[in-house]
Amino acid sequence: MKIGSITIDRPVILAPMEDVTDRAFRQLCKRYGADMVYTEFVSAEALRRGAEKSVRKLRADDIERPIAVQIFGNTVESMVEAAMIAEEFSPDFLDINFGCPAKKVAGKGAGAALLREPEKMVAIASAVVRAVSIPVTAKTRIGWDHGSINILDVVPRLEDAGIQAIAIHGRTRSDMFNGKADWNWIRAAKELARVPVIANGDIWTAEDALAMFDTTLADGVMIGRGSIGNPFIFSRTKRLMATGSPGPHPDFRERIQAAIDHLELSVTFKGEKYGTLEMRRHYSTYLKGLPKVSVVRNKLVREESWEQVIDILHSYRQECEGYAAQGRIHCDTEYLNDHSVRLVLNYQV
Ligand SMILES: Cc1cc2nc3c(=O)[nH]c(=O)nc-3n(C[C@H](O)[C@H](O)[C@H](O)COP(=O)(O)O)c2cc1C
Repeated sequence: MKIGSITIDRPVILAPMEDVTDRAFRQLCKRYGADMVYTEFVSAEALRRGAEKSVRKLRADDIERPIAVQIFGNTVESMVEAAMIAEEFSPDFLDINFGCPAKKVAGKGAGAALLREPEKMVAIASAVVRAVSIPVTAKTRIGWDHGSINILDVVPRLEDAGIQAIAIHGRTRSDMFNGKADWNWIRAAKELARVPVIANGDIWTAEDALAMFDTTLADGVMIGRGSIGNPFIFSRTKRLMATGSPGPHPDFRERIQAAIDHLELSVTFKGEKYGTLEMRRHYSTYLKGLPKVSVVRNKLVREESWEQVIDILHSYRQECEGYAAQGRIHCDTEYLNDHSVRLVLNYQV
């Protein structure tokens, strides 16, 4: 797959996720082999106002490259201004969000709402392309609802506007996150696209990622929810693609260590207080399925000192060593295939 000067063969990509793909999580996923990452979406209006919280989301380290900054907005003017601000932070690409179904975004005419206004979508895309010198990509859904699936119309229009790659989540806006992503629409879009297509939706395992490549013939695949508490999905997918086997499932040691690494990164970038607080929502997925996990989780979400959290995780690892010696910890397949991971997400619609 080639975007601008960057070429990656069959990339496995971390999807943009609000409140998830911050610097800490992106860097963790890079360690596990993610080929490319996106920031959380950043509001064009907020950037324009100079909102500190939004500007902070533009920061990244070289280790994260190639990285796309994603912006969303509902006017050409705000998106052009935001694009120029984002470019100053030197991301490799700028991505436009044309797919968010959340009320706070689509309800205001941005994100997936632009699927209902293709003229405006194209006006935003071409103005942003003209405003910056880095490649501009787009991420969208297959349509607004099942009566108006228009991805095959939208793709050539975005290409004509100068968009250099298109990530497609195989759902409509009205699907929200229900049902299953329709990979056949992604394949249909790929068949007519001139720019690289990145396929997204319902990759929960390394095997799913490979099936996504095979079904859609896409140039890259993008993983969202399946990576939360499970950055191993990147290394497992890469290994499966390279050798035909994803290797063994991560055991409790690796999963606890990943939680510790994630916490350390989180504290590095957000400071002790927020870094520790924001990690609370992640422990249940890292530890899911392990013995007596509710006891340790209750301790973890009450603790304010990150060093104490690490101590708790270390002693839990010791406790698990005991269970393992008794043969009471088995393969983690159930955890990895457990789509109910969705239930613990804090995605407001
Ligand atoms: C918690 C959460 C936050 C998300 N935030 C964004 C976002 O900021 N920008 C975006 O384009 N998509 C966002 N998405 C959608 C994902 O990028 C992705 O398209 C969707 O989750 C489907 O992929 P998956 O089945 O691999 O999760 C978000 C999804 C979740 C679950």
